[in-house]
Amino acid sequence: GQHLLSVKDISLDLIDELFIVAESMRPYAGRQKVTRVLEGAVLGNMFFEPSTRTRVSFGSAFNLLGGEVRETTGLSNSALAKGESLYDTAQVLSGYSDIIAMRHPKAGSVKEFSLGSRVPVINGGDGPNEHPTQALLDLFTIKNELARQNKSIQNLSLTLLGDLKHGRTVHSLCQLLALYRNLKIQLISPAELAMPTKYVDLLVNAGHQVEVGTTLEQGLPQANIIYQTRIQEERFSSQQEANLYRGYFRLNKQIYAQHCQPDAVIMHPLPRDSRNEANELDNDLNAMPGLAIFRQTDNGILVRMALFACILGVEDIIQNYEQTVNW
Ligand code: CP
Repeated sequence: GQHLLSVKDISLDLIDELFIVAESMRPYAGRQKVTRVLEGAVLGNMFFEPSTRTRVSFGSAFNLLGGEVRETTGLSNSALAKGESLYDTAQVLSGYSDIIAMRHPKAGSVKEFSLGSRVPVINGGDGPNEHPTQALLDLFTIKNELARQNKSIQNLSLTLLGDLKHGRTVHSLCQLLALYRNLKIQLISPAELAMPTKYVDLLVNAGHQVEVGTTLEQGLPQANIIYQTRIQEERFSSQQEANLYRGYFRLNKQIYAQHCQPDAVIMHPLPRDSRNEANELDNDLNAMPGLAIFRQTDNGILVRMALFACILGVEDIIQNYEQTVNW
């Protein structure tokens, strides 16, 4: 087995294989597919920064493959708070686990941890740096949403919107999209929260048509997929500074009707900020067929099941499994 620390570890061939396995895990007839192929295996689910969907979907995906989950949440609940190094923590935890998923607030921390680990480590988000499994489930969702409209990835016109400076999900997604050629990508943010140059350069060097802008009008009309993000207030030097940008770009039913293509798909890595002063994705969009945010979170289970299976070498077994949950 090997680590998944960065989307740089992933090739197009691997993505294609992973997505075939993920698709084979899709529930049918309303029933979740389940296998016991990882019976006896233990996932160390180490989340040293808040998480709902990444943490729970890693755990659920492992359970659906028959494995068990041991969980740590919060830095203050671990011996890291007593000054233990990531290396030592990894040595200890990898003795208790067959594979580890980890999130930590510091960029580079998951890689540092992996150097002490005797089992594969999956990056569940390291500060503002990367979130590779989110990028994989986002790409899986993009392809699925385009397929629902009889389109392919080559038809993609994608607008990334919001805090492109601090958002690790869009940083990882740009690196995945750089594996493709000739896509249309619009990067729309407040000027101060622009996509870091290294990711823009990656997209341009891949031959994509990249447009950078600061207004919704520059990003919405041509997009068939709109990827909204939250202002990452926890990455700013002060709450006052973050507040300058919260609510800067709002998407709601009226703005959608005014600016977007009628079948435009809206994605968001979530959580969306539901507080009035921020509220980048309004509840009045909830009933819209194009709102794909909970299809994204459902896809997260499938992609993480496929990842565990591929990293632990059981992907051929689960693809042919037919068993479903009976309740
Ligand atoms: N998208 C995402 O990473 O969500 P959580 O922070 O809830 O895991």
